[in-house]
Amino acid sequence: MSDNAWDNSPLLQDIGEIVITEEEIQTRVTELGAQISADYAGKRPLLVGVLRGVFMFMADLVRATTIPIEVDFIGITRFGPSTQTQGVVRFTKDLEINIQDRHVLFVEDVIDTGISLRYILRNLEARQPASLRICTMFNKPRKRLFDLDIAYTGFQLPNQFVVGYGLDYEESYRHLPFIGVLREEAITRRRLPQGSQTA
Ligand code: IMP
Ligand code: MG
Repeated sequence: MSDNAWDNSPLLQDIGEIVITEEEIQTRVTELGAQISADYAGKRPLLVGVLRGVFMFMADLVRATTIPIEVDFIGITRFGPSTQTQGVVRFTKDLEINIQDRHVLFVEDVIDTGISLRYILRNLEARQPASLRICTMFNKPRKRLFDLDIAYTGFQLPNQFVVGYGLDYEESYRHLPFIGVLREEAITRRRLPQGSQTA
């Protein structure tokens, strides 16, 4: 990170190590787009993403994909602690495009436990697409609770909480163009209720 407007960002105070740089991300996305373009040649795939975390990866990935494609999004809400299998998933926004007999590529920002993904995949499979495969920018395999067959992976991530490139902490930091570790101080500061801080 040099010669870069982000060098002066106040947000950098909250970031420790930069795990994946903007340049590394862009290089990898270009490779993924080329691979998808080759694998799906002549198939007009439908890329489906889950809002909101995937917006940045999706925007870059589709621009790196040079065959005819279509794009759609779903929205979900998950209740309950993330580490518990009984976490309930509900659709807040459904697809607008009918996926029956379509080649669907499901695009994710990060797969962690896989709870949300498993629920979504089951739902999409029931609509009888011609094929259904997974592309994730980031993968955290150490916390996976289910076996998932992932066709395309951008990067493996350490089992650490990171932000940037779509990933948030309480809706902040999504717009960082790189992946960084959120400092403990940034988390603690957010947890304190307004006005409870002392000098
Ligand atoms: P899971 O695979 O169902 O556990 O959920 C993945 C979701 O957890 C993602 O869509 C993110 O919203 C969130 N998530 C997992 N790991 C991280 C992280 O390191 N930073 C930010 N969000 C994360
Ligand atoms: Mg999130």
